Amino acid sequence: MQVELAAPIPSFSTMASSSTHSMGLTMPFSLATVLVILSCCTQFALAAREVSTAGDDKAMRERYEKWMVENGQTYEDSAEKARRFEVFKFNAHFIDSYNAAAGPGGKSRTGLLTTNKFADLTGDEFRSTYISGRSGGAISGGINGTMPPLGSGFMYGAVRLSDMPASMDWREKGAVTQVKDQGLTCECCWAFSAAAAVEGIHQIKSGNLVSLSVQQLVDCSTGANDGCKPRDMDKAFQYIIDSGGLTTEQAYSYQGYQGTCSASGKPIAARIRGFQDVPPRNETALFLAVAHQPVSIGLDAGINSVMQFFSGTGIYGAAGEPCTEDLNHAMTIVGYGTDEHGTKYWLMKNSWGSTWADQGYVKIARDVVSNGAGICGLTMQASYPVVA
Ligand SMILES: *[C@@H]1O[C@H](CO)[C@@H](O)[C@H](O)[C@H]1NC(C)=O
Ligand SMILES: *[C@@H]1O[C@H](CO)[C@@H](O)[C@H](O)[C@H]1NC(C)=O
Repeated sequence: MQVELAAPIPSFSTMASSSTHSMGLTMPFSLATVLVILSCCTQFALAAREVSTAGDDKAMRERYEKWMVENGQTYEDSAEKARRFEVFKFNAHFIDSYNAAAGPGGKSRTGLLTTNKFADLTGDEFRSTYISGRSGGAISGGINGTMPPLGSGFMYGAVRLSDMPASMDWREKGAVTQVKDQGLTCECCWAFSAAAAVEGIHQIKSGNLVSLSVQQLVDCSTGANDGCKPRDMDKAFQYIIDSGGLTTEQAYSYQGYQGTCSASGKPIAARIRGFQDVPPRNETALFLAVAHQPVSIGLDAGINSVMQFFSGTGIYGAAGEPCTEDLNHAMTIVGYGTDEHGTKYWLMKNSWGSTWADQGYVKIARDVVSNGAGICGLTMQASYPVVA
């Protein structure tokens, strides 16, 4: 693991020019003179830096110790703790400077990022586990998915927008289970997203909210060794159709790695008849779908560490958070609304545990990307299960 330093020691070339100017030296002078001046100034600069870093380190170490207590974090040995402190320090500098710098149009970013439970993970460590590789690694399967058995149409396309509620929170309707945690060992956000979408439509149609088995999807809907790899949610929906349904989380609980499929004999708790893709690059179409049920989506969560440290205060993307359309993570949209400043948002359920962002949920800006792709490409691979 490599830890980058937030404030590298100025290079000799930088120091040479600044010392030359400040000392008002004029040509010609010997190389030996230059070297003496350089080494003198370097020592002075290093000494000054040590003083300021020492003060910084003391405050930072206290912040780190506090963070460890709050997050129940412990380490195997002092070497690992020292290594993790360097990562924490780097992340804390990134978080502090991001929060301090206003977004486009002077929009405040105060409190947008926080030293959450991921604060001792490097960006690469986070990207290699909690999301599917680095940015640019699109979810396999592309946006087309498998053709839904009920016909490839968009069943909500003819619904009148004005008939839909201005805000929706499927949690309030009892259609959303508790936030789950995919953990550090399995890149199966696709399975959490698909299960949450099925939990939603199952509750809406039957009145019963049942936590469904993500592990069944990881073990049974994939080839050997594919369960903890990036995957298209539509493939999970197809498996649920083909296999006859999903059992409960209780009967087949999450392990965080792929095991042998052992769904046989377990009670089926929810079935679906099909699934459909929401037309991409169209936030209106997505709105119509979410007005009817929770929807699985792919998005870019990994271009930088902003999503990793998002505090849940405010709306992601409202202050120009950088993003691409390279999908590398899946979430489930469980609602939409408009905040007190008139900013429209999508309400997303994530699978990074209930201590990330706003108790595991994040609001992402809605209707702000002119090409319809949505913030972080969130309309590009949206789909929902059909229970008919
Ligand atoms: C999706 O469909 C388009 C048009 O039919 C096709 O050109 C493209 O290759 C497909 N993409 C994938 C990933 O299957
Ligand atoms: C977006 O979807 C809505 C609902 O299906 C449709 O009426 C509208 O024409 C679509 N817009 C575009 C630009 O495709």
